[in-house]
Amino acid sequence: MNNESAITVRNLSKKFGSFIAVDDISFDVMKGEIFGFLGANGAGKSTTIRMLIGVLSIDKGEVIVGGYDVGRKPDTVKGIIGYMSQKFSLYTDLTVEENLHFYGRTYGLEKEEISKRISQVLATIKLNGREKAKAEELSGGLKQRLALGCSIIHKPEIIFLDEPTSGVDPISRRNFWELINNLVEDGTTVLVTTHFLEEAEYCNRIMLMHSGKLIAQGTPKHLKQNSIRNTILDIESNKIVEAMELLQRQDWISDVSIFGRHIHISIDDEEKAKERIYKLCQSSNIEIINIRKIMPSLEDVFIHLVEEKNSHAS
Ligand SMILES: Nc1ncnc2c1ncn2[C@@H]1O[C@H](COP(=O)(O)OP(=O)(O)O)[C@@H](O)[C@H]1O
Ligand SMILES: [Mg+2]
Repeated sequence: MNNESAITVRNLSKKFGSFIAVDDISFDVMKGEIFGFLGANGAGKSTTIRMLIGVLSIDKGEVIVGGYDVGRKPDTVKGIIGYMSQKFSLYTDLTVEENLHFYGRTYGLEKEEISKRISQVLATIKLNGREKAKAEELSGGLKQRLALGCSIIHKPEIIFLDEPTSGVDPISRRNFWELINNLVEDGTTVLVTTHFLEEAEYCNRIMLMHSGKLIAQGTPKHLKQNSIRNTILDIESNKIVEAMELLQRQDWISDVSIFGRHIHISIDDEEKAKERIYKLCQSSNIEIINIRKIMPSLEDVFIHLVEEKNSHAS
């Protein structure tokens, strides 16, 4: 990853009738990074991608991809990007090789170039030996790899992957991320949407979209360290239920939740809180085995941010 921007988005908006699907979002994707785009169904991820690749008109705002203004130079942009849509658009009655060939033609490659690229792409997506198989005979995981292959046949600088891992098994998902990493090592920039939070950890940076709005962006580590102002403590006790009831009654403690033999709470001041909890529990005859500060997970962060957003909205 370097400091040159591969994608620049400024104040991008899209309405369908009176419904605002994308609401004034701005972000940058740096060359050579994996940029993760997270959000629940209906958040506006696909609509954003469709504007970025030039298939959906932009209502307001500016989008620069690979140095070109998508609104003004859609065809130039098309030549330097790859796109894998949410529903892999493969021709099921064509073979692996024929699908790759077809996409090569669509991207305007010459015959010889296509043949050369097909063998390179087959190696990249690890489908060597399956070139004569019909797409419909492939498993979900292999179809997904073929769809990726079709989107990179013309060696694009930037690829857009819209929920590439939904609907495939966990092992295929992990293998797929390995392929993405290989592409990035070769210098490709990747923008990928997902609703699997654990996949956010594979990204250099992520952004979270909610109801058309961008509500957070940064590295996974930055978001975990900076999104929740309060400290999260993990408390281990021999009387977990009693301890939980006691902690729930304290108005200076929030978000009390139980995880097996542990309780998570959210507080302002770590040292003061620890002291008060030890005293409280001692006087109620509840033994505390351990109290420690923990880093919130991305799941904690996203739930917190979305709830914060919803409470401001209502
Ligand atoms: N062509 C369209 N016409 C009307 N509404 C649309 C259209 N495309 C998307 N939407 C709406 O915009 C919102 C965002 O959709 P989408 O971008 O597909 O979200 P995501 O990809 O995050 O699931 C949804 O409420 C969806 O119903
Ligand atoms: Mg979508």
